[in-house]
Amino acid sequence: MSTQTPRTPQEYEVLSGGGAESAELSRRGLSRRQVLRRAVGLTVGLVAMEGVVGGLTMFYPNLAGQFGSIITLKAKTAYPASEQKAMAIDQAGMFYESAAKSYIMHLKPGGSTDFLLSGTTLDNAFAAEYWVQDKDGTYWLALYQVCVHLGCKVPFRNDCNSFKCPCHGSHYNIDGEYLDGPAPRSLDRFEMAFDKSGNVTVDTGKLNQRVERPSIGTRILAVPGVQCSAQ
Ligand code: FES
Repeated sequence: MSTQTPRTPQEYEVLSGGGAESAELSRRGLSRRQVLRRAVGLTVGLVAMEGVVGGLTMFYPNLAGQFGSIITLKAKTAYPASEQKAMAIDQAGMFYESAAKSYIMHLKPGGSTDFLLSGTTLDNAFAAEYWVQDKDGTYWLALYQVCVHLGCKVPFRNDCNSFKCPCHGSHYNIDGEYLDGPAPRSLDRFEMAFDKSGNVTVDTGKLNQRVERPSIGTRILAVPGVQCSAQ
């Protein structure tokens, strides 16, 4: 407890120049030094709190709806399915979504779609490569746009019926499986799903970087039947 005797307003008039401020200080029994000390303490406290909040934001950023979190894309109907050899970017079977930095593949079985595996072997390959089978029998994938060689953005080429990296020529099938070039593995892919409203969602915080180069006997889809020039 302070033993200091509060000054009267009149004393403050004399010592500090007077005014309402002096009167209030006097009423509360505070000296100017005490007020200054409290103000400095408050400022230091606010700066420290800001630092803590900033640190927490850095380690636990609020990514809701942004890249790094689950991103809700369009309704499923906005992505019409296509057979393997009829894919056309942003028209049929293959769609680019910049918010998710992904290509959404929607593949229709039958026709020109040529699965090289079957039964349990195919089911295991689907699971390992993050394929999603829909109720209508079509298949979905969310492929990360980045080339796994040195990080260029890989375009889907209608003329190649595949992805071809413009930087050093790495070449990937429509499902992101490695075809040829310097890339060490197949394209990475995100976990994807559908929400209750029938929208496509991509979890850009869950990246599957473990899809190896397929070997004879492990490739899911037939290789494209067209040549693909460098550019
Ligand atoms: S970055 Fe794509 S092939 Fe090198």
